This record gives sequence, structure tokens and C-alpha cells, in this order.
Amino acid sequence: LVAGVDTSTQSCKIVVRDAATGELVRSGSAKHPDGTEIHPDHWWSAFTQAADAAGGLADVAAIAVGGQQHGMVALDAEGRVIRDALLWNDTRSAGAAEALISELGDGDRAVGSQRWADAVGSVLVASLTVTKLRWLRDAEPENAARVAAVALPHDWLSWRIAGYGPAGDPSAPLGPDLNALFTDRSDASGTGYYDAQGANGAGEYRPDLLRMALGRDDVVLPRVLGPAESGGVAHPSVAGVDVDGGALIGPGAGDNAGAALGVGMTPGDVAISIGTSGVVSAVAPRRTADGSGAINGFADAAGNALMLAVTLNAARVLDAAREVLGVDVDELAALALRAPAGSDGLVLVPYLEGERTPNRPDATGTLHGIRLATSTRPHLARAYVEGMLCGLADGLDALRAQGVPVERVMLIGGAAQSPAVQEIAPQVFGLPIAVPEPGEYVADGAARQAAWVLAAAGAAGATPTTADAGAPSALAPPDWSATISATLPADPRPEIREQYAKV
Ligand code: XUL
Repeated sequence: LVAGVDTSTQSCKIVVRDAATGELVRSGSAKHPDGTEIHPDHWWSAFTQAADAAGGLADVAAIAVGGQQHGMVALDAEGRVIRDALLWNDTRSAGAAEALISELGDGDRAVGSQRWADAVGSVLVASLTVTKLRWLRDAEPENAARVAAVALPHDWLSWRIAGYGPAGDPSAPLGPDLNALFTDRSDASGTGYYDAQGANGAGEYRPDLLRMALGRDDVVLPRVLGPAESGGVAHPSVAGVDVDGGALIGPGAGDNAGAALGVGMTPGDVAISIGTSGVVSAVAPRRTADGSGAINGFADAAGNALMLAVTLNAARVLDAAREVLGVDVDELAALALRAPAGSDGLVLVPYLEGERTPNRPDATGTLHGIRLATSTRPHLARAYVEGMLCGLADGLDALRAQGVPVERVMLIGGAAQSPAVQEIAPQVFGLPIAVPEPGEYVADGAARQAAWVLAAAGAAGATPTTADAGAPSALAPPDWSATISATLPADPRPEIREQYAKV
């Protein structure tokens, strides 16, 4: 058996699967507190509760952790968390992002944006870890001075599972060895100080960029492992968790890369996830450097690039429509499907609370084309669904503009189950759509990675492999991934996006 963990923004989810067949054996989850600033101890206690709920992990031979990207976990020399972790959705470092862009561009924002994209694959926004370190240096210099190591949420949890942690903590029998921290390429590529394609494709940290943010680079950064490399073993006597001591710990992954592995994306597939935020992502052989900032050139969990756009206006646009119309999820879908494609010219620009792609943090939404004939509940419902999908289609175009092949959309996230979304998405995207069965794709991807690590270790005589971080493993991940529950043919209605583009 193998275990896959998703330490996400909202909760910790664990799946236990059969390493050979992928069959789901057990699962469990536990909630995290809300907020954009969280003490990592909450993640540890949610992990122990989720492990309990999953019937313990004493019988798993390998475990891997996927997690929310970008969060800043700053540790002191004793392995203590210096302050609450600042998460990806904490925006206080927006000014720090602008300052760093300007500094790298010698005062020119456009030049600085392109230089960041060239250096690390992404133009900085407040989500990225490097901006949070600059904020720490400016706002909390005493805390910044104590930083001895910087980890991401999934790295920190893997380190704790291996038995490391703050000095004197009984749940951390191996103590605060910062050099035992490890991560993977996908999550490292979201820090803003790791170039997944540097050092001839092997990947390398950029201490110069870390120094630009924090004022120094004498901090420990987690070792970056290859896709099927093990970073250590679970400790048998970690308080509160019944883990098989000796279970191999995989490198883990950022959540979007974990989901790509979990749904089984192949080149030509684009995943569109309609959750709290909308994520449009695709696996490509190499990242590009999009100086406009629309596309982040992250790494995936298998040795490729993960090209990705994030919109802030996804499922919550549908929530807003339900609020305005006073209907539930099913009623909204039924209403939307009563209006014709294009909603007779009623168009919603869905930037209800600013937008990240395109980068317009202060934008608001607008409704165009209100006439007597379009002042009906079905027209309004359809305009909200189409507007949200058009925003995501802009992300698809941004991927195409970077040369990413786009042949099929895999529609995931809660709103992917809406009948209205399933009928209108093939019209707006003009592509065939596959809807995987609802599932824990990130935890599933982590489980798939754990099975891969186990196979690689077996192939190498039970010793963890030591591949270059950038090199794909000789063995591919196991051939199990999400089942597709619906396949919808392309039904292009270009008029929907044409009228959207005009407003
Ligand atoms: C990606 C991003 C989010 C987080 C969510 O850049 O900010 O998708 O990974 O956890």
C-alpha cells in the first residue's frame, strides 16, 4: 500500500491505495483553520487526525505529500517556526513584488518582469514565496534576522513525517536537522528563487534572487529531489501517527503538479480547474518565459514543465449568480440552459473582485447588453456562466500564445459537475472535454508518486535513487489515474467569445 497526502489550503486529505493496481483502500481528512496566515502546527495536527480517520498508516510502504504552493514557512536554527506561515492567497506582499520587479529591471517594470520570467519562469505576484521574504525583511526585521531555513508547506510536513522538528518537541524525535529538509522541482519552481531549467536542465537555486529579497542568502533551502527519488523514511515513533517506520517518503509536489499526476494528464491535455480560483494548466516539455505574467512557467512532478494561469473569478462567479437570482446550484444550471448561446448579447465581464490573469487587481465586473429582451432570469444565469468560462478561455489563449499544444480540456474542480458548465464549456472552449470522476486528485497524484518511488527504490536495490532533479526517472509513474466519467464533443460557438472580446 501507498499513501498520498494533500495538505491543502482548507484541509488535509489522505488516500491509501494499492501500489500495484491503484485501487482506493481507505481515506481520511481533517480541516485546517481558515485564514491566509496559519501556524504550521495546525497542518501537523490535521495530518495526524486525517491519518487516524484513514485507519492509520502502519501498513504503507511509501508516502508522498502534495500541498498548497508558495506558502512561506520560516524556521530558526532550532527548527522552530518563526511566525505564522504566509499563504499563497495572502496579498500583503503585493508591494514587495512590485519593488522586486523594479529592482531586477533597474527601475523599468517591463524589463524587470521579463527578467524574472527568464530567471525563474514567472513574473512576481504576491503569491510567490520570494515576495513574502522581502515583506518579512521590511516589516519584521527581527524575525527576518532569525531565519535559518525556508520551507514550503509540503516540505515542512514531509520533514515532520521523517521525525524532524523543533528542538525539544516530543513529536520530533530526530530534532531540528535543517539539512534533512527536501522538496521537489514543482513546488521549488513556485518560490521565485529556483530555476527548474537552470544548470543545464538539472535545476538550481538562485541565491542572488534570495539575497535580493532577504538581504542575505545564508539560509538552508530544502534539497530538490528528482521525480521518483526518496528523501528519507517515516519515523516509527512520531507522536500521534501510526506510520510504518521505514516507509519511503517521496519528494512530494505542489498541488497543481500533483493534480496533473492524479488525473493522468498527457501532452495536449489542458486541465481547467473551477474552484475558489480557476487554474488553467498544461504539461509541456520546457517552460517559456512569459514577461506579460499571464503564464507561470512552473515545473511538473515528472521532469517536464507545468505552464499555468490562475484566475481569481471561477466558482465564486457562479456563487454570485446564485445569490443574485436566489437559486440553488441545480436551479442555476436549469435557468442558464433555457437561454440561447450568447445570451442574446448579454455579457458579463467576471472580474468581481479584481483579477490576477490579466493582472488587474482593482478591476470590477460589468454587465453589458441589458435590454428588455435580455432582462430575464435565464439570460442573466447564462451570462454569468459564459462570462466565467470566457475568463478561463483567456487563460487557454495565453497558453496557446506560449506555444503549448491544446487538444483536449480536462474539466476538474467542484463547478465542473454543473450540467450548465458541462454543456456550455465545449461551446466556449471549442474543444472536446473530458470530465474525470470527482476525486482527491492532488492526494491521488501524491499516492501515484509514492508508488513510483517504491518501484524506483526496488529497481535500485531498495536504496533511494539519486537522480538529477531535472532528469525524468527511468521508470514512469504507475499507469493508474482518474476515470473519465463524461466525454463531451467540441461544440464551437465562436460568437460567445467574439461578443465578450468586444466589451
Ligand atoms: C498557483 C496558486 C494556487 C495554489 C493553491 O500559483 O497560487 O493554485 O497552488 O494552493
